[in-house]
Amino acid sequence: MERSLSIIKPDGVSRGLIGEVIRRLEKNNIKIAAMKMIYMTKAQAQGFYDVHKERPFFASLTDFMSSGPVVAMVLEGENVIPKYRELMGATNYKEAAPGTIRADFATDIEKNIVHGSDSPQTAAFEIGYFFNSFEVIS
Ligand code: RTP
Ligand code: MG
Repeated sequence: MERSLSIIKPDGVSRGLIGEVIRRLEKNNIKIAAMKMIYMTKAQAQGFYDVHKERPFFASLTDFMSSGPVVAMVLEGENVIPKYRELMGATNYKEAAPGTIRADFATDIEKNIVHGSDSPQTAAFEIGYFFNSFEVIS
């Protein structure tokens, strides 16, 4: 059993894609174990993306992630980390496989609709960043 932190990013929320992303999760039998809407401050976005703090896109990414509300979800299931990343598609939407969320909706390498954890270690940190243990349903 594995958990992943999913975020519908500000572009996904503002473009009315919350339902579409959730529909794809449900259609693929991915269980949602927690969900909330959050409007992050710049400092909260910087804390979330601390692993990327040395990257050239860090300032722009944290501006974007604090530019509007996001929907954070905990996903649960066998191999849910790679399974959800497959549904999301590659970071760069131009390289994302047809039928993936990013191929279908992203407009920009940064504004790519969704986030998904990339390992059990990052998932544990990211889930704890947004949810306490009482908020995640097993
Ligand atoms: P995420 O963490 O959001 O699920 O995306 P990812 O693993 O596919 O990509 P990652 O390398 O972790 O990058 C995090 C987010 O930073 C933005 N980004 N911008 N301008 C650029 O070259 C660039 N590269 C990455 C994207 O929003 C990416 O999802
Ligand atoms: Mg990542």
